[in-house]
Amino acid sequence: MLILGLNMFHADASAAVVQDGKVLFAIAEERLNRVKHYAGFPALAVKACLDYVGAKISDVDHVAVGQDSDANLAKKVQYALVNPTKVLNFIRVQQRKQAMRNVRKLLANALDADPAGLKFQQHHVEHHLAHIASAYYCSPWENAAGFSYDGSGDFVSTMAAHCEGKQIEVLDRVFLPDSLGSFYTMICEFIGYKQYGDEGKVMGLAPYGKDGFCEELRKVVATSNGAFRLDQSYFQPLGSNQGMQVREDGTVALARHYSRRMVERFGSPREPHMEITRREMDLAFAMQQRFEEIFFCLLKQLHEKIPMHDLAMAGGCALNSVANGKLFDQTPFRRTWIQPAAGDEGLAIGAAMYVCHALLQQERNYVMRDAHLGPEFSEARIEADLKKAGVRYRRLGRERLLELVADKIADGAVVGWFQGRMEWGPRALGNRSILAHPGRADMKDILNARIKHREWFRPFAPSILAERQHEYFEHDHPSPFMLHVYKIRPEKRQQLCAVNHVDNTGRLQTVSREENALYYDLICAFERKTGIPVVLNTSFNENEPIVCAPEEAIDCFKRTRMHVLAIGPFMAEKSAA
Ligand SMILES: [Fe+2]
Repeated sequence: MLILGLNMFHADASAAVVQDGKVLFAIAEERLNRVKHYAGFPALAVKACLDYVGAKISDVDHVAVGQDSDANLAKKVQYALVNPTKVLNFIRVQQRKQAMRNVRKLLANALDADPAGLKFQQHHVEHHLAHIASAYYCSPWENAAGFSYDGSGDFVSTMAAHCEGKQIEVLDRVFLPDSLGSFYTMICEFIGYKQYGDEGKVMGLAPYGKDGFCEELRKVVATSNGAFRLDQSYFQPLGSNQGMQVREDGTVALARHYSRRMVERFGSPREPHMEITRREMDLAFAMQQRFEEIFFCLLKQLHEKIPMHDLAMAGGCALNSVANGKLFDQTPFRRTWIQPAAGDEGLAIGAAMYVCHALLQQERNYVMRDAHLGPEFSEARIEADLKKAGVRYRRLGRERLLELVADKIADGAVVGWFQGRMEWGPRALGNRSILAHPGRADMKDILNARIKHREWFRPFAPSILAERQHEYFEHDHPSPFMLHVYKIRPEKRQQLCAVNHVDNTGRLQTVSREENALYYDLICAFERKTGIPVVLNTSFNENEPIVCAPEEAIDCFKRTRMHVLAIGPFMAEKSAA
């Protein structure tokens, strides 16, 4: 049975294909059309899914969309009626969503197929149900608590559930306008980070701040009787899309979230080009602090209802790796399984898996052990692209490649590492990565000057051999998808100075040999040379979606000051780097 999952006309449009309960291929459209956070129809992603399994759209049995505009309709209508300025917008959005429902026509057009020949049944799965499904059905568990939170989806910002066997039972929903994601976005915009997806950047700024505004932000997000509420006077009226608009070209625009009251209370908002002052740091600190307080409070409530150790989690806010790293100390949950594509691209997998198990009652026979669900490219294709680009290269055997690349990293080179299938989700996990020495004090500046040009306050991440985690970090729970931040042990901070953040933490990726043998062996080779079982790992890109195809990696290598490119079995070096 072939199920196609879709996230469409929504940020991070994506497609996934599930065959007989197994996720075989999944990709966000941005990786293929090179438009960051693309929010149109994922035509290229669908084609890539079908090509991978060698199927035509007429072979697909079910199409599952991670959005249900009929879900929570009564709440939406109620909200529109008490917010008269939003009624017109509400009607417009509903009309647009109706047009989107003709999935058959959209797919037939995209794939140049006859709509009459498409036999699939169409399903719409509520946004947060799809998020929770993307975590639970990919986890190894038969019984777990489920949690999803983000800005908004189908008029809901937060969902708690009990997941058991093939079923997900929704226990609780938080409806708009109350949204932890919107709160985070609002403060990020106020301090000058106005692009969709900027929240992750500001998370890195938070530890530079001090407790100056925590009490204030407790008024912006208040709690009573275990529920949280946004004080709407600090927000613009955002409507049912929480200020997120899709432009004609499929890019995402954010409307201004903060109101005049924020300006009256905190002064003029920072513009992106302005210097970051103590105020921005303290606001970032208080924002993260308040976010965590509410998050832990919601998880404790969930645990009271579902008193077990295991938590399956997704939703854009589940990318808050700082909060994820602390939840073991702050809540009774002992294990997490967080969908690597916790943001909205993950809806494609979630919707497909929900249809597979909850609706069609197919047996569960799959665990997502790694995130290598994207395309891979043949040696012949890579070599042809190297030749076309005029890059000098040599071909190496596996061991020689590992030794040489480890040597280069140990010598302080910045290495583009392009191997195997592309990762699913926003993190590069050792297949489309830029690698460097984690223990050189100047490495962060070198990376920023040569390639990444990131804000000074953003840390780089360490990839560590899984079995060595406890030696370096103060927490044992694995982090295979780079979704947890832990304290680095005091005696190891010097050794990891390029990935040790200002608060002595690191957003680690634990690498096991079963999940990625080549990357694991590379880190082993690096340890043999340096005594450090860790490499610095940042995504292979320069202000663009992460590279997907060889020509994008080669182009990034050529136009940046990257020293070395290791692509498949080939290695290229810049002579005067
Ligand atoms: Fe979402």
